[in-house]
Amino acid sequence: MRIFSGIQPTGPMHIGNYLGAVSQWLELQKQHECFFCVVDLHAITVPQNPKELELATRNKVIELLATGISPEKCALFVQSQVPEHTELAWILNTMTPLGELERMTQFKDKAKKQKTEVFAGLFNYPVLMASDILLYKTQAVPVGQDQAQHLELTRTLAKKFNSRFGETFVEPKTILKKEGARIMSLKEPRKKMSKSDKPDSYLGIFEEPESMKKKIMAATTDTGKEIKFDEKKKPGISNLLTIYSLFSKEPMQKAEKKFQKKDYAFLKKSLAALLTQKLEPLRKKKRELDSRELYVKEILRQGQNRASSIAKATMQDVREKIGLLQS
Ligand code: TRP
Repeated sequence: MRIFSGIQPTGPMHIGNYLGAVSQWLELQKQHECFFCVVDLHAITVPQNPKELELATRNKVIELLATGISPEKCALFVQSQVPEHTELAWILNTMTPLGELERMTQFKDKAKKQKTEVFAGLFNYPVLMASDILLYKTQAVPVGQDQAQHLELTRTLAKKFNSRFGETFVEPKTILKKEGARIMSLKEPRKKMSKSDKPDSYLGIFEEPESMKKKIMAATTDTGKEIKFDEKKKPGISNLLTIYSLFSKEPMQKAEKKFQKKDYAFLKKSLAALLTQKLEPLRKKKRELDSRELYVKEILRQGQNRASSIAKATMQDVREKIGLLQS
């Protein structure tokens, strides 16, 4: 299958992103033709500092490589380096009913959070996402539940285009993240872990062990003393157990058993030790990549080339079909 997925450059990668999206990408790249894209043009739908955006984009590429995304197995590239994404987005915008965009729950949430004005780019965000996907005739897209509605719009737009101009785009399937990969905030364990919350509520994948340990020891726990998995009554402990079980690759029951007669502090210390050990190779790889600027550039150039050749062919076809004068 041909797979496409995107990740925003802003914010450091945290264990929620890693156990959710990235671990799935790592699995998919083994068997499928994958296009993984750092979506800088999506990031600017809310105001960004130019210098920071550039650094964050490069950093996200390095983070992905350090976690094991392999340039031999997939095309890893930056969205703005393949200008066909924006060209197709414009064209699809001319066929997207306003009503469809007004329904998008993510737009409504983000617009509410915006302290200043809300710009047209934020409203049209799902159309750019549809273009990312359709440009490559993608068959399946791994995403979180929060993006499922955008995938539905993508299929609607593909159908619309195809019925008006003839068979052009493939309607992509949604691959939803596996259950059990929902990592919650350390401070408010009933809320999803998010990089837009305070730093003590999430654990960065490349964070120093000391800082990680501090955050884990200060994580919100629940009343009582017992360590068992019960999301309703024990959201804090259940979250720590989930992280433990996913990183140790032990089933939940086995993890529960291990901590059966122990106290909360023991669980927290064990989790900190486990994360330090499991993430050390990733931290090392990242340090190495941080110093190899040319190598990283070369990987992106190859990714751009592979993406471009498909994107150009699709756009040529689209331009002809909609009646743009050929040069
Ligand atoms: N909107 C997605 C997110 O915030 C990122 C994204 C952009 C994406 N384009 C995509 C994901 C195409 C999948 C496919 O998570």
